[in-house]
Amino acid sequence: MSEQKTILRALAGETLPTPPIWMMRQAGRYLPEYRATRAQAGDFLSLCYNSELAAEVTLQPIRRYGFDAAILFADILLLPQALGADLWFVTGEGPRLSTITCQGDFDKLVGKDDIHDHLSPVYETVRILRRELPEETTLIGFAGMPWTVATYMIAGQGTKDQGPAHALKAENRPLFEAVMDRLTEGTIEYLSKQIEAGAEVVKLFDSWAGSLKGEDFQKYAVEPARVITQELKRRHPGIPVIGFPREAGEGYIGFAKATGVDCVALDNSVSPEWGAANVQVDGCVQGNLKSSHMVTGGQALVDETRAIVEAFKNGPHIFNLGHGITPDADPENVQLMIDTVRNG
Ligand code: CP3
Repeated sequence: MSEQKTILRALAGETLPTPPIWMMRQAGRYLPEYRATRAQAGDFLSLCYNSELAAEVTLQPIRRYGFDAAILFADILLLPQALGADLWFVTGEGPRLSTITCQGDFDKLVGKDDIHDHLSPVYETVRILRRELPEETTLIGFAGMPWTVATYMIAGQGTKDQGPAHALKAENRPLFEAVMDRLTEGTIEYLSKQIEAGAEVVKLFDSWAGSLKGEDFQKYAVEPARVITQELKRRHPGIPVIGFPREAGEGYIGFAKATGVDCVALDNSVSPEWGAANVQVDGCVQGNLKSSHMVTGGQALVDETRAIVEAFKNGPHIFNLGHGITPDADPENVQLMIDTVRNG
């Protein structure tokens, strides 16, 4: 039965007449029902760890729009918190964490097998969702990739150029690699539990992959993606994996072959024509409408949506944005995008 779900068919390499569709950050602040549930939960982290309410916000965009997939509501920074980092969110600014600058900071972290008590509400959210989602909707679990998560753990916050993580890599490579290895192992255990709880696909978010160049890209973006993907597939044969090495540019070429991911998500720095010629040749791709169209709407949204569907029509494709939808988006523009994808 589940083999019939459109997203799973595309991930298996099938070219569908209409691409299945979902949207990064589809549960989010642009939706009034999300804002209401979030106010009920208190802050963002309380919402992430409240399984009933996290499942509720995951379901909201499915009810409103009938997307082909739901993505678990959580955050990539829950894993570092489970590993022992302090984590909080400053309204209007973003995440803050305790930093990692020396071996002593690293030694405070727990091992990969000691994360599950902390993360058990997330696994419970997955179990609730598998019960409550419509039969045709695919449930996607996710984690941040080691490099992206490390950039936040090392700096203690988001950074424009990932400077502190690059500096640690240059100045204390053994410590940097210890952080990367702990995150790689932890990510495998975390995603494995999401799959056991009912996630049907997992997505690996490497939002800052674009700042890794040359050999660093191979070692710290491609290699962790390969290790995580291979181990998940060994433990859970057939589990589809979506890789998102955001802004990888030329690094997108051959990424699926090198890592074993079933689908590569494309951001907005590449054109759909380029993606079709260079990435879709190896299998399924996901993407890549600019999130700004969800704010501005109109004919430009329709034209650009049609152009993306057209560019990817000869191979497996999952329609999505190139990055998350922003809080200032108009919910009606999301409907217009979906109608354009489904009705032409
Ligand atoms: O896509 C989804 O809907 C699934 C849930 C999800 C969230 N964050 C919810 C969220 C996912 C997959 C993420 C991934 C994530 N989180 C990334 C990688 C993807 C990307 O966007 O590049 C990163 C870097 C983070 C870390 C993070 N979480 C930041 C930097 C912020 C603050 C920025 C902001 O938008 O305010 C968050 C908060 C966050 N994560 C929100 C949501 C819905 C907004 C929280 C709120 O309600 O205030």
